[in-house]
Amino acid sequence: MEVLYTEDGTPTLFHPAYGEAYHPRQGALLQARRLYLERTRTHLHPAPRVLEVGLGLLVNFRVALESALARGVFLRYLAVEKEPLPREVLSAIRLPLPLGERVFGEILEAWPEERFSGPWGELRVVFGDIREVALPALWATAVYLDPFSPKANPEAWEAPVLRRLRLALRRGGVLATYSAQGAFRRALKEAGFRLHRVPGVGKREWTVGIAVEAPRFPCSGG
Ligand SMILES: C[S@@+](CC[C@H](N)C(=O)[O-])C[C@H]1O[C@@H](n2cnc3c(N)ncnc32)[C@H](O)[C@@H]1O
Repeated sequence: MEVLYTEDGTPTLFHPAYGEAYHPRQGALLQARRLYLERTRTHLHPAPRVLEVGLGLLVNFRVALESALARGVFLRYLAVEKEPLPREVLSAIRLPLPLGERVFGEILEAWPEERFSGPWGELRVVFGDIREVALPALWATAVYLDPFSPKANPEAWEAPVLRRLRLALRRGGVLATYSAQGAFRRALKEAGFRLHRVPGVGKREWTVGIAVEAPRFPCSGG
């Protein structure tokens, strides 16, 4: 896969089978910071626990890590990834994050493992499909929903997945994603999230869902 540079100068890759890049052309780092880190308030949380769908190039992870290291808080990060990239490919994706890149270098040396830890926190990677893997209940303070688009990668946006993500979030936890697709937003609401349409950067809207209500499931039987 060829390395492409986004408009903020940070790298991404183009995935030929999905026909999409891993990050928006406006900026890989920009989206990780403005959307995933800040819209979920991970950058303010004293003990952040992030659940990510689609670890990809670990850009979102490294941005969350940089914030945690700068603040001296312990980061817990659980990512589900069904198509992990080889170490040689990840090594080419370096970011201007002085604290996080040092830890990323250590992670690369052992990649792909299921668990990495240090004084900075813990990264656990579940290598599998989000539709099939077990998720911890009431665990996450934030969900980063970052598969490819609903059109290219529909299975990762389906209602059953959203309901399971809701169950993995603690009360008041926040899910963020770049997609503003209508069917996805309706399913997110049905799954028990309070929806917020937030202005995107380089895109009209992003979506934020807050886990305020108990999840709503369709009734079965009489
Ligand atoms: C847009 S990229 C993620 C970029 C990443 N968050 C980052 O910070 O670099 C989407 C990722 O979702 C993964 N993915 C797609 N469908 C999935 C599924 N059903 N279960 C788990 N991961 C999936 C892809 O393999 C890909 O790595």
